[in-house]
Amino acid sequence: MFITLEGTEGVGKSTLISSLKKYFTEKEIDFIFTKEPGGTREGKEIRNILLDRSMKLEPYAETLLLLADRVQHVTKIIKPALEKNKNIFSDRYIDSTYAYQGAGRDISQDDLDNFINVLNFPIPDLTIFLDLSITEGIKRVKKRGEVDRFEEEEVSFFEKIRQFYLETAKKNSKRFFVIDASQSMDEVFNIAKDKIINTLNEN
Ligand code: TYD
Repeated sequence: MFITLEGTEGVGKSTLISSLKKYFTEKEIDFIFTKEPGGTREGKEIRNILLDRSMKLEPYAETLLLLADRVQHVTKIIKPALEKNKNIFSDRYIDSTYAYQGAGRDISQDDLDNFINVLNFPIPDLTIFLDLSITEGIKRVKKRGEVDRFEEEEVSFFEKIRQFYLETAKKNSKRFFVIDASQSMDEVFNIAKDKIINTLNEN
């Protein structure tokens, strides 16, 4: 089972992940938790470049760095886990690229398809999208302190990304599951956990 988690900034992905980790450990359900960018040793170096505010990356360079990170991640972590029928949970994956580089940075869907299709990335069984208003998310991010190269973008950048995710979720309603992230952390956790357990039982 391959599950991914998506969202804009400050929607509570990290909090949800730590609750899920605790829950699965307690229930002795085996899950590998991983993330993008930076799920591998090579990816960590790529991630440093991507998040560094002093880097002036061209949109295509940014995209190709993210895809380089994903190739390492898929080859070293995701595919081996899926081949052994293990459960794997990734904090961000392919939908982030269509949302951030596509809708956010204005790279066309065709260009992204051309880059991505040759790479044969596995498709998730379930993608959870934590949906929150951009103003609320930014408020939460600012409380955390220093912002990275993505977080310093304008509200309109994130609005485009959020709308794109919501449209993608509608078009791919079988794979996508949207959770209203303005609810309490406990509520978000319970909804996500129930959905994951149901999906595990169905497969
Ligand atoms: P991270 O600190 O992991 O942020 P978050 O907690 O929001 O996931 O930084 C990852 C950043 O990389 C995030 O702002 C989104 C961006 N990103 C893309 O733009 N495209 C992608 O394909 C991926 C995987 C991430």
